[in-house]
Amino acid sequence: MEPVSRRTAAVVVGIGALGAAGGIAAVTGALRPLSPGRRTTGSASAGRPGGPLREPTVLRSEGGILEVRLEAARGSHPLAGRSATTLAYNGAIPGPTLRLRAGDLLRVELVNSFDETTNLHVHGLHVSPGGNADNVFVAVEPGSSFSYEYQLPKDHPSGTYWYHPHHHGMVADQLFAGLYGAIVVEEPEPLPVARERLLVVSDITLDAAGGVAAVSMRDRMTGREGELLLVDGQVTPTLRARPGEREHWRVVNTCSSRFLSLRMSGMPLVILRRDSGRLATPTEAPEVFLAPGNRVDLVVTAGQDGGVLRALPVDRGSMSGAMMGNRPASGSTEPVDLLVLEVAGPPVDDLPALPRPPAPRDLSADDVARERVLTLAMGMGMGMGGGPGRGMSLTIDGREFDHERVDQHVELGTVEAWRIVNTSSMDHPFHLHVWPMQVLRQGGRAVETPTWLDVVNVPAFGEVDVRIAFEDFGGRTVYHCHVLDHEDLGMMGVIEAR
Ligand code: C2O
Ligand code: CU
Repeated sequence: MEPVSRRTAAVVVGIGALGAAGGIAAVTGALRPLSPGRRTTGSASAGRPGGPLREPTVLRSEGGILEVRLEAARGSHPLAGRSATTLAYNGAIPGPTLRLRAGDLLRVELVNSFDETTNLHVHGLHVSPGGNADNVFVAVEPGSSFSYEYQLPKDHPSGTYWYHPHHHGMVADQLFAGLYGAIVVEEPEPLPVARERLLVVSDITLDAAGGVAAVSMRDRMTGREGELLLVDGQVTPTLRARPGEREHWRVVNTCSSRFLSLRMSGMPLVILRRDSGRLATPTEAPEVFLAPGNRVDLVVTAGQDGGVLRALPVDRGSMSGAMMGNRPASGSTEPVDLLVLEVAGPPVDDLPALPRPPAPRDLSADDVARERVLTLAMGMGMGMGGGPGRGMSLTIDGREFDHERVDQHVELGTVEAWRIVNTSSMDHPFHLHVWPMQVLRQGGRAVETPTWLDVVNVPAFGEVDVRIAFEDFGGRTVYHCHVLDHEDLGMMGVIEAR
């Protein structure tokens, strides 16, 4: 990132003026409101609210291979403008961004230097789930390491992906404490944009000592939401562009449980891709919805006046009626300013139109080898296999996760139609590893254009119809709710494709 000099900071033009500054002041509470005049250089203001955006370190493949050492450890890092003691990969939050091309080989040596079992999942990549590839059944104990190897197929979709731990029972805690990073599979042809930005959105709650705050069982059942909402580990960072500049934003929702509804003031958001699925035509959207785990590739063209990207509150249902009494709905209730785009300088010339991608694949007319119904439920605990304090069960088809049981046997080379039913009063974002899902119906409405997601939200008391092509990469892996607290509490099943 270019540092903000005093000279350029002084000519910053409106950022939604008082509205934006007021919003930031509200969000950051006691922290200083946005004050461009007081900002100095990039490094001095790293992590300070309102400081220039600093993106994670980038590690890029060369000659078809990327070898990375990822050390997961506890330590002190600048986070949200203070020193925090958290987990991190290679000492930074987020961890390094891994940039690959289709057909590349990715080697990751995961070193576990903290005191809990962990492992690694490459979320959304279409790679083998077996052996030392994207195998979530691997356990990497404290003090040991494991060498992962992921071979991307030559036709792997371009897009934004990410990595995070996946050891059952610890996933939400380890993510919330700082273990996540992005993966980019490059476009075959660079897009005609002035620049690309990687925006990793996460949340965390820090306690008075700067450690990660403890999470109650109630919050686990609802799905925890952190008090701080961060972009690349920063509170409301600032981006700078010239009027008319077109940017490509890659946004990743790495929050353990928080749903994001993104809205930009001052300029439209144009969706290029959701998860790994490129849209047939770039589509302008007033609001962009990201369940935990989802990504979106956006095109943003800077207007004259800049703007603020906000996360609006999302009502994802409540547990009332279950066992918690009449608690308010889950989810944050105030909009949060995620970042500020400041526009200054002379306007730029128009760029050529975005190229039209090849039409997305459409399975809706394919022969279906098998139909399945999967039912997500929350119920009273009554001796289900949890520990003390356990009050409620989170199940798929009436069962909690058991790594030794295979819940779905699938024949490789077939297309299946799955209906995912949610009988509970909360939304559950359903994630399937390895094979993306084409969404045909969601919440009672047909999805007209081919839409490919690897996390699809199943609304409270609603259902979703998807189709899945199980074409390659046989083996055993999982599907689960990506409210990671729910996953840890049992809302996960095992699938084997052969
Ligand atoms: Cu992002 Cu099974 O996880
Ligand atoms: Cu859930």
